[in-house]
Amino acid sequence: VTARPLRFEDEALLVLDQRALPGRETWIRCHSAAEVADCIREMAVRGAPAIGVAAAYAMALAELRGEDLERTGTLLRATRPTAVNLAWAVERAQAAAASAGDTGSLLELARELHREQDEADRRLSALGAARFKAGDRALTHCNAGALATAGYGTACGVLRSAWEQGLLAQVWVDETRPLLQGARLTAWELERAGIPHRVVADSAAGSLIARGAVDRVVVGADRIAANGDVANKIGTYPLAVLAARHEIPFYVAAPISTIDPATPDGGSIPIEERDPAEVSEHGRAFNPAFDVTPAELVTAIFTEAGVLEAPYDEAIRRVAPG
Ligand code: MRU
Repeated sequence: VTARPLRFEDEALLVLDQRALPGRETWIRCHSAAEVADCIREMAVRGAPAIGVAAAYAMALAELRGEDLERTGTLLRATRPTAVNLAWAVERAQAAAASAGDTGSLLELARELHREQDEADRRLSALGAARFKAGDRALTHCNAGALATAGYGTACGVLRSAWEQGLLAQVWVDETRPLLQGARLTAWELERAGIPHRVVADSAAGSLIARGAVDRVVVGADRIAANGDVANKIGTYPLAVLAARHEIPFYVAAPISTIDPATPDGGSIPIEERDPAEVSEHGRAFNPAFDVTPAELVTAIFTEAGVLEAPYDEAIRRVAPG
Protein backbone atom coordinates (compact mmCIF):
# COMPACT_ATOMS: atom_id res chain seq x y z
CA VAL A 1 0.00 0.00 0.00
CA THR A 2 3.01 2.32 0.32
CA ALA A 3 2.83 4.99 -2.38
CA ARG A 4 6.05 5.43 -4.36
CA PRO A 5 6.29 9.03 -5.55
CA LEU A 6 9.78 8.74 -7.10
CA ARG A 7 11.31 6.09 -9.39
CA PHE A 8 14.58 6.17 -11.27
CA GLU A 9 14.43 4.23 -14.57
CA ASP A 10 16.29 4.43 -17.89
CA GLU A 11 18.37 7.46 -16.96
CA ALA A 12 15.30 9.46 -15.95
CA LEU A 13 13.55 10.33 -12.70
CA LEU A 14 9.84 9.55 -12.76
CA VAL A 15 7.87 11.89 -10.51
CA LEU A 16 4.31 11.09 -9.49
CA ASP A 17 2.47 14.39 -10.02
CA GLN A 18 0.97 15.03 -6.56
CA ARG A 19 -0.95 18.06 -7.84
CA ALA A 20 -3.24 15.71 -9.74
CA LEU A 21 -3.91 13.35 -6.80
CA PRO A 22 -6.21 11.82 -5.79
CA GLY A 23 -8.07 12.28 -9.09
CA ARG A 24 -5.40 11.14 -11.52
CA GLU A 25 -2.13 9.20 -11.33
CA THR A 26 0.18 10.90 -13.81
CA TRP A 27 3.94 10.62 -13.99
CA ILE A 28 6.42 13.25 -15.15
CA ARG A 29 9.61 11.93 -16.75
CA CYS A 30 12.57 14.14 -15.87
CA HIS A 31 15.73 13.76 -17.93
CA SER A 32 17.54 16.73 -16.42
CA ALA A 33 18.11 18.36 -13.05
CA ALA A 34 16.34 21.48 -14.35
CA GLU A 35 13.19 19.42 -14.95
CA VAL A 36 13.39 17.99 -11.42
CA ALA A 37 13.85 21.53 -10.08
CA ASP A 38 10.61 22.55 -11.84
CA CYS A 39 8.78 19.59 -10.26
CA ILE A 40 9.99 20.63 -6.80
CA ARG A 41 9.19 24.34 -7.27
CA GLU A 42 5.72 23.61 -8.62
CA MET A 43 5.10 20.91 -6.01
CA ALA A 44 4.58 17.93 -8.31
CA VAL A 45 6.86 16.39 -5.66
CA ARG A 46 6.62 17.85 -2.15
CA GLY A 47 7.31 17.03 1.48
CA ALA A 48 10.73 17.75 2.98
CA PRO A 49 12.36 14.28 2.75
CA ALA A 50 10.90 13.54 -0.71
CA ILE A 51 12.29 16.75 -2.16
CA GLY A 52 15.65 15.85 -0.60
CA VAL A 53 15.58 12.46 -2.36
CA ALA A 54 14.43 14.10 -5.62
CA ALA A 55 17.30 16.60 -5.37
CA ALA A 56 19.79 13.74 -4.91
CA TYR A 57 18.50 12.10 -8.12
CA ALA A 58 18.66 15.51 -9.84
CA MET A 59 22.33 15.80 -8.92
CA ALA A 60 22.86 12.31 -10.38
CA LEU A 61 21.17 13.38 -13.64
CA ALA A 62 23.41 16.45 -13.78
CA GLU A 63 26.45 14.24 -13.32
CA LEU A 64 25.31 11.83 -16.06
CA ARG A 65 24.86 14.79 -18.45
CA GLY A 66 28.19 16.32 -17.52
CA GLU A 67 26.60 19.45 -16.09
CA ASP A 68 28.19 21.74 -13.53
CA LEU A 69 27.31 20.39 -10.06
CA GLU A 70 27.89 23.68 -8.28
CA ARG A 71 25.38 25.49 -10.51
CA THR A 72 22.90 22.60 -10.34
CA GLY A 73 23.10 22.67 -6.54
CA THR A 74 22.38 26.40 -6.49
CA LEU A 75 19.40 25.94 -8.83
CA LEU A 76 17.94 23.13 -6.70
CA ARG A 77 18.44 24.90 -3.39
CA ALA A 78 16.58 27.97 -4.64
CA THR A 79 13.41 26.01 -5.47
CA ARG A 80 12.03 25.74 -1.92
CA PRO A 81 13.81 27.46 0.94
CA THR A 82 12.28 26.08 4.16
CA ALA A 83 12.79 22.30 3.95
CA VAL A 84 16.42 21.77 4.91
CA ASN A 85 16.50 18.20 3.54
CA LEU A 86 16.92 19.74 0.10
CA ALA A 87 20.15 21.58 0.97
CA TRP A 88 21.32 18.56 2.98
CA ALA A 89 20.94 16.22 -0.02
CA VAL A 90 22.66 18.67 -2.39
CA GLU A 91 25.58 19.00 0.02
CA ARG A 92 25.88 15.22 0.38
CA ALA A 93 25.98 14.88 -3.41
CA GLN A 94 28.55 17.65 -3.87
CA ALA A 95 30.79 16.16 -1.18
CA ALA A 96 30.51 12.67 -2.73
CA ALA A 97 31.35 14.03 -6.21
CA ALA A 98 34.37 15.85 -4.84
CA SER A 99 35.76 12.74 -3.16
CA ALA A 100 34.83 9.96 -5.64
CA GLY A 101 35.28 11.43 -9.07
CA ASP A 102 33.96 8.46 -11.09
CA THR A 103 30.76 9.12 -13.01
CA GLY A 104 27.78 7.13 -11.77
CA SER A 105 28.65 7.54 -8.11
CA LEU A 106 25.88 10.11 -7.53
CA LEU A 107 23.22 7.71 -8.77
CA GLU A 108 24.46 5.19 -6.22
CA LEU A 109 24.31 7.90 -3.54
CA ALA A 110 20.77 8.92 -4.51
CA ARG A 111 19.60 5.31 -4.35
CA GLU A 112 21.28 4.96 -0.96
CA LEU A 113 19.63 8.14 0.43
CA HIS A 114 16.30 6.87 -0.90
CA ARG A 115 16.77 3.52 0.92
CA GLU A 116 18.02 5.22 4.09
CA GLN A 117 14.92 7.43 4.13
CA ASP A 118 12.65 4.40 4.21
CA GLU A 119 14.70 2.80 6.98
CA ALA A 120 14.70 6.01 9.05
CA ASP A 121 10.92 6.38 8.55
CA ARG A 122 10.27 2.84 9.77
CA ARG A 123 12.46 3.26 12.84
CA LEU A 124 11.03 6.60 13.91
CA SER A 125 7.49 5.41 13.18
CA ALA A 126 7.91 2.43 15.52
CA LEU A 127 9.32 4.70 18.23
CA GLY A 128 6.41 7.09 17.83
CA ALA A 129 3.78 4.35 17.80
CA ALA A 130 5.13 3.12 21.13
CA ARG A 131 3.65 6.29 22.69
CA PHE A 132 0.11 5.32 21.61
CA LYS A 133 -2.54 3.61 23.71
CA ALA A 134 -5.32 1.36 22.38
CA GLY A 135 -8.28 3.36 21.13
CA ASP A 136 -6.34 6.58 20.48
CA ARG A 137 -7.72 9.16 18.10
CA ALA A 138 -4.97 11.22 16.47
CA LEU A 139 -5.04 14.44 14.50
CA THR A 140 -2.54 15.23 11.74
CA HIS A 141 -1.91 18.22 9.48
CA CYS A 142 -0.71 18.41 5.87
CA ASN A 143 0.77 15.20 4.44
CA ALA A 144 3.77 13.59 6.09
CA GLY A 145 3.21 10.17 4.55
CA ALA A 146 4.93 8.04 1.93
CA LEU A 147 4.18 10.69 -0.70
CA ALA A 148 6.11 13.24 1.35
CA THR A 149 9.16 11.11 2.14
CA ALA A 150 9.50 8.57 -0.70
CA GLY A 151 9.69 6.01 2.12
CA TYR A 152 7.23 4.74 4.75
CA GLY A 153 6.23 8.23 5.95
CA THR A 154 6.97 10.15 9.14
CA ALA A 155 3.85 11.45 10.93
CA CYS A 156 1.68 9.16 8.78
CA GLY A 157 4.27 6.42 9.33
CA VAL A 158 3.69 6.75 13.08
CA LEU A 159 -0.05 6.47 12.45
CA ARG A 160 0.40 3.42 10.20
CA SER A 161 2.63 1.73 12.73
CA ALA A 162 0.17 2.48 15.59
CA TRP A 163 -2.67 1.13 13.42
CA GLU A 164 -0.76 -2.08 12.64
CA GLN A 165 -0.28 -2.60 16.37
CA GLY A 166 -3.97 -2.08 17.10
CA LEU A 167 -3.33 1.16 18.97
CA LEU A 168 -5.17 3.61 16.72
CA ALA A 169 -8.94 3.99 16.46
CA GLN A 170 -9.20 6.91 14.06
CA VAL A 171 -7.38 9.82 12.42
CA TRP A 172 -8.69 13.35 12.05
CA VAL A 173 -7.15 14.80 8.90
CA ASP A 174 -6.85 18.59 8.66
CA GLU A 175 -7.72 19.49 5.09
CA THR A 176 -4.71 21.89 5.07
CA ARG A 177 -5.49 25.08 3.23
CA PRO A 178 -4.61 26.32 0.70
CA LEU A 179 -3.28 23.33 -1.28
CA LEU A 180 -5.26 20.62 0.57
CA GLN A 181 -2.41 18.19 1.18
CA GLY A 182 -4.49 16.67 4.01
CA ALA A 183 -7.78 16.29 2.16
CA ARG A 184 -6.16 15.13 -1.09
CA LEU A 185 -3.01 13.23 -0.08
CA THR A 186 -3.19 12.10 3.55
CA ALA A 187 -6.79 10.95 3.11
CA TRP A 188 -5.73 9.02 -0.03
CA GLU A 189 -2.86 7.32 1.82
CA LEU A 190 -4.98 6.44 4.86
CA GLU A 191 -7.71 5.07 2.60
CA ARG A 192 -5.20 2.79 0.84
CA ALA A 193 -3.90 1.62 4.22
CA GLY A 194 -7.43 0.93 5.45
CA ILE A 195 -7.09 3.32 8.40
CA PRO A 196 -10.38 4.93 9.56
CA HIS A 197 -10.22 8.69 9.07
CA ARG A 198 -12.33 11.82 8.69
CA VAL A 199 -11.24 14.99 6.91
CA VAL A 200 -12.03 18.23 8.77
CA ALA A 201 -11.69 21.92 7.93
CA ASP A 202 -8.53 23.29 9.56
CA SER A 203 -10.68 25.57 11.68
CA ALA A 204 -12.52 22.55 13.19
CA ALA A 205 -9.46 21.32 15.11
CA GLY A 206 -10.05 23.61 18.11
CA SER A 207 -13.56 22.42 18.85
CA LEU A 208 -12.63 18.76 18.25
CA ILE A 209 -9.79 18.99 20.73
CA ALA A 210 -11.92 20.96 23.22
CA ARG A 211 -14.58 18.27 23.28
CA GLY A 212 -12.07 15.53 23.93
CA ALA A 213 -12.17 13.91 20.48
CA VAL A 214 -8.38 14.01 19.96
CA ASP A 215 -5.86 12.11 22.10
CA ARG A 216 -2.66 13.20 20.33
CA VAL A 217 -1.48 15.44 17.51
CA VAL A 218 1.26 14.11 15.21
CA VAL A 219 2.89 16.24 12.49
CA GLY A 220 6.00 16.21 10.31
CA ALA A 221 8.62 18.94 9.99
CA ASP A 222 10.42 20.87 7.28
CA ARG A 223 13.24 22.11 9.47
CA ILE A 224 14.07 21.71 13.14
CA ALA A 225 16.40 24.38 14.56
CA ALA A 226 19.21 23.65 17.04
CA ASN A 227 16.97 24.71 19.95
CA GLY A 228 14.11 22.40 18.91
CA ASP A 229 11.84 25.00 17.26
CA VAL A 230 9.95 23.30 14.42
CA ALA A 231 8.97 24.72 11.02
CA ASN A 232 6.12 22.85 9.37
CA LYS A 233 3.11 23.51 7.14
CA ILE A 234 1.25 26.73 7.93
CA GLY A 235 -1.39 25.90 10.53
CA THR A 236 0.83 23.62 12.63
CA TYR A 237 1.61 26.20 15.32
CA PRO A 238 -2.05 26.79 16.25
CA LEU A 239 -2.40 23.01 16.76
CA ALA A 240 0.53 23.04 19.20
CA VAL A 241 -1.11 25.91 21.13
CA LEU A 242 -4.40 24.01 21.24
CA ALA A 243 -2.67 20.82 22.38
CA ALA A 244 -0.95 22.70 25.22
CA ARG A 245 -4.22 24.39 26.25
CA HIS A 246 -6.03 21.06 26.41
CA GLU A 247 -3.08 19.08 27.75
CA ILE A 248 -2.75 16.50 25.00
CA PRO A 249 0.64 15.49 23.50
CA PHE A 250 1.95 17.32 20.44
CA TYR A 251 4.45 15.11 18.61
CA VAL A 252 6.79 15.87 15.73
CA ALA A 253 8.08 12.99 13.57
CA ALA A 254 11.12 13.72 11.40
CA PRO A 255 14.39 12.17 10.23
CA ILE A 256 17.73 13.54 11.43
CA SER A 257 18.22 15.13 7.97
CA THR A 258 15.42 17.57 8.91
CA ILE A 259 17.42 18.85 11.88
CA ASP A 260 19.58 21.84 11.00
CA PRO A 261 22.20 22.44 13.71
CA ALA A 262 23.35 25.53 11.76
CA THR A 263 19.98 27.27 12.31
CA PRO A 264 19.97 28.41 15.95
CA ASP A 265 16.22 28.96 16.40
CA GLY A 266 12.87 29.24 14.66
CA GLY A 267 13.28 32.95 14.01
CA SER A 268 16.22 32.16 11.72
CA ILE A 269 14.30 29.66 9.55
CA PRO A 270 13.44 31.13 6.12
CA ILE A 271 9.68 30.85 5.57
CA GLU A 272 8.67 30.30 1.96
CA GLU A 273 6.08 32.72 0.58
CA ARG A 274 4.12 31.28 -2.30
CA ASP A 275 1.90 32.73 -5.00
CA PRO A 276 -1.02 34.64 -3.39
CA ALA A 277 -3.26 33.10 -6.07
CA GLU A 278 -2.99 29.77 -4.21
CA VAL A 279 -4.98 31.41 -1.40
CA SER A 280 -7.32 33.57 -3.42
CA GLU A 281 -7.81 34.59 -7.02
CA HIS A 282 -9.82 37.52 -5.75
CA GLY A 283 -8.35 40.41 -3.87
CA ARG A 284 -5.01 40.62 -2.12
CA ALA A 285 -3.73 37.54 -0.34
CA PHE A 286 -0.58 36.67 1.63
CA ASN A 287 0.61 33.07 1.42
CA PRO A 288 3.30 31.99 3.92
CA ALA A 289 3.68 28.23 3.38
CA PHE A 290 5.07 27.32 6.83
CA ASP A 291 4.98 28.42 10.46
CA VAL A 292 7.24 27.85 13.45
CA THR A 293 6.25 26.01 16.62
CA PRO A 294 8.41 26.91 19.63
CA ALA A 295 10.20 23.93 21.18
CA GLU A 296 8.44 24.46 24.52
CA LEU A 297 5.15 23.34 22.92
CA VAL A 298 6.61 20.10 21.52
CA THR A 299 6.07 17.01 23.72
CA ALA A 300 8.58 14.86 21.81
CA ILE A 301 10.37 14.58 18.47
CA PHE A 302 10.51 11.06 16.99
CA THR A 303 13.71 10.47 14.98
CA GLU A 304 15.45 7.33 13.72
CA ALA A 305 18.16 7.96 16.33
CA GLY A 306 15.71 7.97 19.23
CA VAL A 307 12.96 10.06 20.82
CA LEU A 308 14.09 13.60 21.66
CA GLU A 309 12.63 15.47 24.61
CA ALA A 310 13.38 18.76 26.37
CA PRO A 311 15.92 20.19 26.87
CA TYR A 312 16.01 20.06 23.07
CA ASP A 313 19.29 21.90 22.55
CA GLU A 314 21.13 19.11 24.38
CA ALA A 315 19.10 16.31 22.81
CA ILE A 316 19.71 17.74 19.33
CA ARG A 317 23.44 18.17 19.92
CA ARG A 318 23.58 14.46 20.73
CA VAL A 319 21.97 13.26 17.48
CA ALA A 320 23.00 16.09 15.10
CA PRO A 321 26.26 17.58 16.30
CA GLY A 322 26.63 19.61 13.08
O1 MRU B 1 4.49 22.40 1.17
P1 MRU B 1 4.67 20.93 1.40
O2 MRU B 1 3.49 20.11 0.99
O3 MRU B 1 5.97 20.42 0.83
O4 MRU B 1 4.78 20.83 2.97
C1 MRU B 1 4.97 19.58 3.58
C2 MRU B 1 4.96 19.62 5.06
O5 MRU B 1 4.80 20.65 5.68
C3 MRU B 1 5.27 18.32 5.74
O6 MRU B 1 4.64 18.25 6.99
C4 MRU B 1 6.79 18.21 5.95
O7 MRU B 1 7.48 18.48 4.77
C5 MRU B 1 7.17 16.89 6.44
S1 MRU B 1 6.94 15.64 5.25
C6 MRU B 1 7.40 14.16 5.95
